[in-house]
Amino acid sequence: MAQKATLIVDGKQFELSILEGTEGERAIDISRLREETGLITFDPSMANTGVCRSEITFVDGENGILRYRGIPIEEFTERPNFIEVAWLLIFGRLPTRDELTAFSEKLTEHELLHEGIKHQFQHIPVDAPPMAILSATVSSLAYYHHQFLSVEDTESLAEAAARLISKVRTIAAFAYRRSQGMPFIYPDPKLRYCANFLHMMFSIPYRQYVVTPEIEDALNLVFILHADHEQNCSSSVVRAVGSARANLFASCAAGVSALWGPLHGGANVEVMQMLERIHQGGLSPEQCLRDAKDKTNPFRLYGFGHRIYKNYDPRAKILKQMCEKVFAQVKRHDPLLDIARKLEELALADPYFVERRLYPNVDFYSGILLRAMGIPTNMFTVCFAIGRLPGWIAQWKEQHEDPAGRIVRPRQLYVGPVKKHYVPLDER
Ligand code: SDX
Repeated sequence: MAQKATLIVDGKQFELSILEGTEGERAIDISRLREETGLITFDPSMANTGVCRSEITFVDGENGILRYRGIPIEEFTERPNFIEVAWLLIFGRLPTRDELTAFSEKLTEHELLHEGIKHQFQHIPVDAPPMAILSATVSSLAYYHHQFLSVEDTESLAEAAARLISKVRTIAAFAYRRSQGMPFIYPDPKLRYCANFLHMMFSIPYRQYVVTPEIEDALNLVFILHADHEQNCSSSVVRAVGSARANLFASCAAGVSALWGPLHGGANVEVMQMLERIHQGGLSPEQCLRDAKDKTNPFRLYGFGHRIYKNYDPRAKILKQMCEKVFAQVKRHDPLLDIARKLEELALADPYFVERRLYPNVDFYSGILLRAMGIPTNMFTVCFAIGRLPGWIAQWKEQHEDPAGRIVRPRQLYVGPVKKHYVPLDER
């Protein structure tokens, strides 16, 4: 028996269906509310509003649970394989060995950029923000691969996805090399996904960068932990752009732009700058927390807090453990990890953070791990985007394939001036 909610407005009673998800989450179906009552709901940041049914990722923020297609993220840590998880997210199940091999070969086939893109890079300012380069260049894939402007079947989606997932790595590495005034290093078809990215980032002519298994695993895991997170800001943007039937490249480029925000994927850069300031002595951990709690101060404790997690972000837990493992491998300890730990200890004992259930999120430790791999701070959000790309593609595909899918077009509560008349210029 379908459960109902009763809404009483101006003495009139309206019955609304209550929908239930596979994990017991419940939602009041208001999809016909305005038609039946003349009313809309008001939820500016959509914190209380479900915008779709999705089978991709389940997040239980109260209990710190994250599952991709039902599989807990903790189960990917043993033998982390980012491309296997990308396939899982996009196609809905774990790939067979043959499917994984075929997809990896497709990624290798499409790892190069059109030489026109390489020439475009020559005209980009060397101090251009890498995220600006990434969003512009991902968008430009729409004119280099315009055969995918319309993706109407799984095969062409797979082709477009392979180009995006493979080339985003090359674009990111080229952006970094451009900023360093170093020659572009072409992808090596003999290398696996993460090893190839680090090769393009750090090899120099006649001296190939050779990744260790520990670092390769760590980068696979970093990308896996960033791969999807249900209806976060950037994924919602990708769905909204895709709902207008915009192509996959344009939709993912919009996701890159949303992710760049310091409250979203840009937080990993803010965290490192915050930790660096403390390390340089410009700020004490105690002052950092005071500033974060001061409502007159725009500063926030970056890497802390989350719209959904009111418990420890399970990704932060894994990333924190990974830091130790990688430091042991690179035989170098980063003092920023000690500072991060101190900040976490102070915050988790501070009533302000405890009362608001603010815990470390995915961005709090990710930068320390990326820095241990030699990746510079201004490339951290780019790495977040490389990881999140399969999630954006999966969300876009789900939106695209929804037979009930309609263009996203929210309503508003108008609070502007009531009707008035135009005043000719010489009478103003
Ligand atoms: C990501 O959505 C996702 O899934 C995102 C993500 C993903 O995988 O896609 O998980 C990735 O974006 C992680 C979040 C990265 N951002 C940061 O670390 C920036 C710092 N965090 C905050 O800006 C904030 O916590 C957000 C943006 C993450 C969440 O914002 P909300 O849900 O709008 O929370 P809020 O601003 O309403 O905060 C509730 C209260 C407020 O205080 P009061 O008005 O109740 O007094 O908590 C306070 C906030 O001021 N607060 C913080 C804080 N986070 C929340 N105060 C100080 N420092 C913080 N970090």
